[in-house]
Amino acid sequence: MRRFLIAGNWKMNCGPKETSTLLQGIEEEMNTLPKEVDGLVCPPTISLTTAADELQNIDGMALGAQNMHYEDNGAFTGEVSTTMLNEVNCEYVILGHSERRQYFGETDKTVNAKVNKALNDSLKPVICVGESLEQRKADEHVLRVKKQVQGALIGVEDEDADNIVIAYEPIWAIGTGETATPDQAQEMHKMIREVLAELYTEAADSVRILYGGSMKPHNAEELLEQPDVDGGLIGGASLKADSFTKIIKIAEQLSS
Ligand code: 13P
Repeated sequence: MRRFLIAGNWKMNCGPKETSTLLQGIEEEMNTLPKEVDGLVCPPTISLTTAADELQNIDGMALGAQNMHYEDNGAFTGEVSTTMLNEVNCEYVILGHSERRQYFGETDKTVNAKVNKALNDSLKPVICVGESLEQRKADEHVLRVKKQVQGALIGVEDEDADNIVIAYEPIWAIGTGETATPDQAQEMHKMIREVLAELYTEAADSVRILYGGSMKPHNAEELLEQPDVDGGLIGGASLKADSFTKIIKIAEQLSS
């Protein structure tokens, strides 16, 4: 019912040259994605145009940005607008990644403004939520993530909810090699789906909820096999053609 979405968040890696090399590597492994799986790569802003060109050779792989501003244009040094992202064929945009919240002052409020702006301008937001280790130890993880989801979706109507993707990324699992156990991931994904069900009449079943945090080929299967895990938002392992396409193949096997 829900198709897997396997997404690469390249973070601050790969300028235009490396972007070409990496996408050509992916193309060599896989120039058409399995029909059961949607793919997505999110390079840094400066590499989006190059990526858009290269992606013409990879069927089924979409393009996304890692951030955007909620205003149309103007005096916002260093920012990019939805119009600019549309112009380079971005279909998705990652919003509220924990690194943006931690280092660049993003809050539930700015994330919410961006989510509404993205949807309004035909971009599909990949909304990142997740708790810190301290919050998990204090047993506050459910409350924290629930608030992040609710906060991000203020003003998002039923008809737009189908176009959102949520990524649950426990901060303690990002780039650490430590992954949430399949049970921990499923518990949080199920809770997020319940929050969606309280907000929307139909979309809760169709919204894809991705897991992020040290997803690698060796642990992807046990995570993706959870009923409410609909894909991955992958950092480190998306920077190598081999490991990224391996995860796509695992998703394909689980779909058939
Ligand atoms: P890693 O896969 O490197 O842990 O990164 C996850 C992430 O933050 C994706 O957005």
